[in-house]
This record gives sequence, C-alpha cells and structure tokens, in this order.
Amino acid sequence: MNLIKLFTRHMASAMSAVSISILSATTVAFAQTDLPVVQIQADKVTAKMPPMFYGLMTEEINYSYEGGLYAQLIRNCTFKEDSVQPNIRANDYDPAKYYPATYRANTRPRFWNSVGGASLVLDPGTPLNDALNVSLKVDASAASKTSPAGVANGGYWGIPVESRTTYKVSFYAKAAPGFTGPLTVSIESTDGKTMFASAKISGITGDWKKFETTLKTKSVTPSKDNVFKITTTAPGTIWLQEISLFPPTYKNRPNGDRKDLSQLLADAQPKFLRFPGGNYVEGSDFVNRFNWKQMIGPLEQRPGHKSCWGYWSTDGFGLPEFLGWCQDIGMEPVLAVFAGYTLNHDHVTNSAALQPYVQDALGEIEYVTGDASTKWGAQRIKDGYPKPFPLHYVEIGNEDFFDNSHSYEWRFAQFFDAIRAKYPQIKIISTTDVKSRVADVNDEHYYRSEEEMEGQSFMYDTRNRNSPTKVFVGEWATQPSSPTPTMAGALGDAAWMCCMERNADIVLMHCYAPLFVNVSQLTGRDRSMQWSHNLIGYDALNSYGSPAYYAQKMFSLQKGDEVLAISAQNLPVRSAPAGRGGGTRQLKSLFYSATRDSASGKITLKIVNSADTPQDVKIEVNGVKSVSSKGTATVLQAANRTETNTIKDPQHVVPVTEKIKELGTSFTRTFQPCSITVLELQAK
Ligand code: AHR
Repeated sequence: MNLIKLFTRHMASAMSAVSISILSATTVAFAQTDLPVVQIQADKVTAKMPPMFYGLMTEEINYSYEGGLYAQLIRNCTFKEDSVQPNIRANDYDPAKYYPATYRANTRPRFWNSVGGASLVLDPGTPLNDALNVSLKVDASAASKTSPAGVANGGYWGIPVESRTTYKVSFYAKAAPGFTGPLTVSIESTDGKTMFASAKISGITGDWKKFETTLKTKSVTPSKDNVFKITTTAPGTIWLQEISLFPPTYKNRPNGDRKDLSQLLADAQPKFLRFPGGNYVEGSDFVNRFNWKQMIGPLEQRPGHKSCWGYWSTDGFGLPEFLGWCQDIGMEPVLAVFAGYTLNHDHVTNSAALQPYVQDALGEIEYVTGDASTKWGAQRIKDGYPKPFPLHYVEIGNEDFFDNSHSYEWRFAQFFDAIRAKYPQIKIISTTDVKSRVADVNDEHYYRSEEEMEGQSFMYDTRNRNSPTKVFVGEWATQPSSPTPTMAGALGDAAWMCCMERNADIVLMHCYAPLFVNVSQLTGRDRSMQWSHNLIGYDALNSYGSPAYYAQKMFSLQKGDEVLAISAQNLPVRSAPAGRGGGTRQLKSLFYSATRDSASGKITLKIVNSADTPQDVKIEVNGVKSVSSKGTATVLQAANRTETNTIKDPQHVVPVTEKIKELGTSFTRTFQPCSITVLELQAK
C-alpha cells in the first residue's frame, strides 16, 4: 500500500477535524453596512450544463461492496481471507498467467465459528476448482440428534433479518464416505434464542455439487445480531465452498445490490460512475491490481484478490456487477484502466512490458461496449448484459502525480495512442499533467478542510479558458469529521459545487469520494472503516446519508441545462482558523451559482451562507421580462456546523422544501446561518 499517500491523506483528515472544533467557537459574521448583492444575468449563458456533471466515484474501501452495496451477507464466503498472496514484482509478472494464492493447511477460517463441537479447518487439498482452490473441512463427528454440529457465520458485523422476507441460500458441498446428511441451513439470533427460518438440504455425495434453497422469515422485528448456520445431526465430514446468502436485491437483480443503499443513490440521480477506483484500480502490487479478467463470468471462477485497503475482495462484485449497478441507477460508466503502476511504486519499465496491459485495457473497453461479434462483448452478453454500455470517458491509471519514477508520461502516451486508434470517439482522461499528448480531460483531486474548500471556491473562475484539456474533479470532499461529514462538510461542499457549476464550461464532471463507509466497527484490527470521511454510512441493517449527501442531492436534482452568468458585490466574510500554523483568517461566507432549465425557463439559484449568523442578500435577476412572485426554496440547515446525521439519528439534518412568495426580478431574502438554499424561480 502507498503508505505515504495514505498517511498524507489521514493527517489532512485529522487536521481538518481539529480545526473545525476551533472554528465552531470562533466563527463570527461581520456586520454589513451594504447588503450583499447577487446578480444573475439570465440572458448570458456561460455554458451548457454537461449532461454528466454530477456522478459517483467508487472503490472497494470501507467495506463498500463486501459488507456494503453488494448484497451478499456471508463474510469470507470463499475462505480466502486467510490466503497467502504470491509476491511478484512487475518485471517477473506475466499478466497472461494466473498466480494462485496459497493456504496454511489446517488453519481455522476467519469469520467462521464452530457449532456443536465441529472441527473447522481450511483444506487446500480439497479445492472446488483452480480459482477457489481451498475449501472448509467440517468434521462433525460429534453431531447427534440432540446436539447438531456445523458452522456459523456472523456476516459483516451481523446478519440482517427483516420481516416476511425471502433469503436465497446457495453453497457447494461434498461429503466423506458414509455421510448421508441431511444438512440444515438456518438464520438464528446470535444468542440462540430465536430461530428465524430454516430449511433442510439432502443429496450430498462424495462429489462437489451446488445446493440452493430459500429461507423465509415470518413477521419479526428487524434485527442484525444474528448468524447463518449450516449444521447436521448426523455424524460425518463435509467440505463447503462459496456459501451464499442473499436478501431481496435492488430491482431484483441476481447477485445484486442492497436495496436501501441503491435507493439513496438513485434518489440523488447521479449520471456517471467512476470505477473501479481510486487506489483500487492500481492495487497494492501487480498480483492484486484490478485484474478485470478475473472478475467476470461465473462467481465460482473468480479467485478474488486482496483489496489495497487491507481486506479480501471475493470479486463477486466484479466488472459485470459494476455495469449492472450503472444500469440500475441510470449512470454511464467512466472506466478507469490499470496503467502499469501499483501503490507499492512498482511499475513496468519499458513499452514492451506495458503492452499486455494496454491490450487488457482495450479488451476491457470491448467488454463494456462491444457487441456479440466481439470476443469480450460476447462474454458480457454471456454474463447477463445483452446491450453494450455507452462509454464516453476512459481514465488511464489513478493519481499518477504520486509516481515518483516519472513513468506516467510514456505509459499514458502508449495507452492514449492505442485507445485513440481503436476508439477515436472516447475521451481520454489523464491523472496528472502530460506533455507529449493532449489529454481530453485531466482528473483533479481535492480533499480539504471546510476553510480550505471555501477558500478555494472561486479558483476555477480565473482558470485559463484556452486549454484544450478540460477538468474532471474525480475525487473531492470537505473533511470535517468521521465517519461521515457534519454540516460543516456540507457547507464546504456546497461552496465548492457552486464553484464547479459556475465553471461548467471547463469542469465537465465531478464526484465526491469516498462514497460509502460501513460504520459497524470504526477502530481496531478488524475495522470497517479505512478512510475517515465518507458520504453515506451504514451497518448490516440501516443506512443514512450525511448532510454532505443531502447537499449533493439538492444540487444534482436542480442542475438545469444552462449555466447563467452570475456575479456578486459586498460579499460578507467570516473569521475562520488559518490552518496548521494557527491564527485566523477572513474567509468569504457567501457562495452562489445559477442555472436554468431551458425547457421550462425555471432558474435555479443556489446560495450558501456558511456564517453562524443569518445573512440578508439582495437578489437581482437581469435579462428576463419577469420573475413570478411565487417560487420554491429547498433549505438544508443545521443549528450549527457540527450537527450531523448518524446511524442512530439518520434524518437529523435533511432538506426542507417550502413555497415562497414576494419574489421578482429584484428581492431580498434572509439566508439562515449554516445553510444551503436552492431557490427555484419561474422566469419569463
Ligand atoms: O478516496 C480515497 C483515496 O484517495 C483514493 O483511493 C485515492 O485515489 C485517493 O488518494
């Protein structure tokens, strides 16, 4: 793992957490002699709002898919968490080969417990196949009619149980001679007092076979302190692999996504998904990069890999599942391809060694976009996705400004030339400055404290307009608090989104990062959080959007299709901490942007008041005949900037929409302290 990179990020996070507590005590708004004036010039369109302006960024971090969006409930379902990964450097690595993980035989599998005195060990001698080259050996010789023996799995910090719900169970099993079964599968409370549902499985033989059944709960109170069990009352030895338990999924997709998290995303109407990372595309080393060819096809053929964030990824959520996610939410993929450089600074050193990875990228693009006549398009169809996906953007690598070997220049050029030649319509995104080719778009990342984010929220207004390379802000976040941002985060984010909207002629797309965090276990060795500021939090049963999520949603839902010229005078300031050196500085505390829906003429004005006091603002709408006196205001506001949402109090800070009047081409409105307001104005 790139420790320097992570350390720098985490220090930045910690510093912003410190600064915000000082801020809440010292913030004041200065008295205004002249009211701030915000002027919209509605007859001057500065940009067409890019159709994919608001999107999502995602990677396997903080148990985003495993124990997150991917609805699989069984943890370590392929028993690979304990595997030993081969350590192969780039120069010795042959991308055409598969380097299997190995296992310490007779070790106990993580996250599996014995029931009724059964002995559980990993058995590399009884593999399911080359990909799942280990299994769980369960010696249940102590089993009896009165004392069932077997295995139990507690899921990702609990197995959620909902009322009147059908769960799908499947697993592979084989038995030693003499065992005839049956097996019982069940969901029970951890204390053993409540059996929610159970089913019997028979027909286990000496050969590997897949078994499937369903478990149906009755009317119960939703809970998560539960386990999934496979037990028997008949003595014997069995082997198990790929044990799966699924609740109903979003849009009923097989091997699909968690409903509540999908709904939160769908509600915010993101238009693209940047995947698979972030660091996750790079991997900590060549063996553990995002190797898409090992993440397609039947689940039992996917070996899995170690996520660079320190835990095992089964890759049950692989390339087809990313595409299914895009399809279900209505997003277009923005595909990041592995670019021959990993987080441990290992990289290929010449163009011949890079070429197989360039071919891999071309194949991956074909998997996403190809029709049945292409090799990889045909494979995608086999994997359940008949229609090719639209793909307008491909990103080469991730954060290559960290590449101190300076190899990105030639690596980028080689990818650029190959992709441009085969897919001339695709726009190519660089991750740092390049000189020998003109990237269509460059990916900029900003993780900031609230003060820093607000402080930089006019920076694109003065950006050079003549560069042929546009901007993709592929990762950004205001980072006031962990595990998800307080209102301070939403304020910094909203100021920054105003900046990006005003400058949508050069900023084509942007996405917050990271998207998800499992908040079940925030510290310790087995922690569910690797990055301390994230948009959406959840445990096994419940989920919530942070105030930053609601700010995003408000902006995304009201983006319009035209950006209008906007200016301001007499902007108020507040006194805020200067940063690590101490002291205070004066920061603007009012931020704004205006867009229009050209079909209806509706103008949307976004105003952020980041001060701790109310602020009167005069609004002028020029270049229109009239503005209706009636409109709508949607306001996200908190009593102070440290207010937040949590898993226990998920709706503490949410937007409120109200009808408002006394609007016109010129009006004055009071904006509440620590508030984000979206005004909808009907103009003619
Ligand atoms: O979003 C978390 C990490 O931040 C990403 O993986 C990486 O690109 C950046 O350093």
